[in-house]
Amino acid sequence: MELVVVWTATFLGFCVVFLTYFTVAVSAFRFKDIYCKISDYCECDFQPDIKGLEWDLYRNLYGQHLAQEIISEALDKFLHNDSPERPLVFSFHGSSGTGKTMVSSLVGKYLFGSSLSSRSIHHFIPTLHFPDSGQIEQYKKELKSWIEGNLTECARSLFVFDEMDTMPSGLVDVLAPLLGPYHLVYQTNYRKAIYIFISTSGSEIINHVTLEARKSGLDREEIRIEDLENLLSQAAYDCKGGLCHSEVIRTKLISHFVPFMPLTRRHVERCVRQEICHHGQCHRKDIITMVAKTMGYHPESEMLFSHTGCKTVSAKVDYYL
Ligand SMILES: Nc1ncnc2c1ncn2[C@@H]1O[C@H](COP(=O)(O)OP(=O)(O)O)[C@@H](O)[C@H]1O
Ligand SMILES: [Mg+2]
Repeated sequence: MELVVVWTATFLGFCVVFLTYFTVAVSAFRFKDIYCKISDYCECDFQPDIKGLEWDLYRNLYGQHLAQEIISEALDKFLHNDSPERPLVFSFHGSSGTGKTMVSSLVGKYLFGSSLSSRSIHHFIPTLHFPDSGQIEQYKKELKSWIEGNLTECARSLFVFDEMDTMPSGLVDVLAPLLGPYHLVYQTNYRKAIYIFISTSGSEIINHVTLEARKSGLDREEIRIEDLENLLSQAAYDCKGGLCHSEVIRTKLISHFVPFMPLTRRHVERCVRQEICHHGQCHRKDIITMVAKTMGYHPESEMLFSHTGCKTVSAKVDYYL
């Protein structure tokens, strides 16, 4: 009998502790929810390592001194500000295989400790997420509410809009109110976000400036952002699809236009070297020569820049190994 009493008392005690714990946990969860809606301190798995990003870009991103400088400096400045006036908005431009998507993944990795799996990283690919231009009004509603919902939960979030050339025209304008300094309308949460738009628009300008610099005997690293910025912002506006003719560019909501320059044969060789080393075959110099030789180069007269940058390198290395 005594044993039954002891067991019942223990059980009841356990229930009380459990219920108390459960109630506290639920209230804390609700409180956090409300707190996140009115403050800007919900940063979720944000754990920036800008020095790590700088080092990785320096070591592993070939031939892109402007992208490397602009991105590292802008992020460093932005993240040191606890109350930024507006979100940080990058627009990456350049031809295929020059490292645009790779850099956006590295930014995610060094802001959230993971290039893909963090709930604070949102990667949109129009052909996948917005395939039907007839549904643009529906996409606008969904995109806006997705971004607002996620920023309420995690103030420091990264939104990457890849392959913008295939984005239905007009869709991106729904983002315009979120990208500006609208303190009164929106909570401060909106201003801690980072956006990256990626497209190939403006690549002719970038390639032209890089070619002219080379012809006049300048080092590639001597090209400055001032030589490109205005031309690039104009080219990013005067085109078709995605950001072209958008309110986002017209009302100057892009913080930084980031040019990715065309890669030369020497850069392609470095990409091949890195790839074969991943396979533990660093000594296979024959493969470096072979892959670099099979790539197409432009302009036809000088054959300086790879048509596809380093994009097909990995597949070619797999083939030759
Ligand atoms: N500048 C670069 N430096 C080093 N590797 C590069 C560079 N550009 C491209 N690569 C390699 O080629 C692959 C494809 O590049 P990606 O970033 O997808 O090009 P895109 O500019 O078309 O987005 C990358 O994953 C990377 O391995
Ligand atoms: Mg890409």
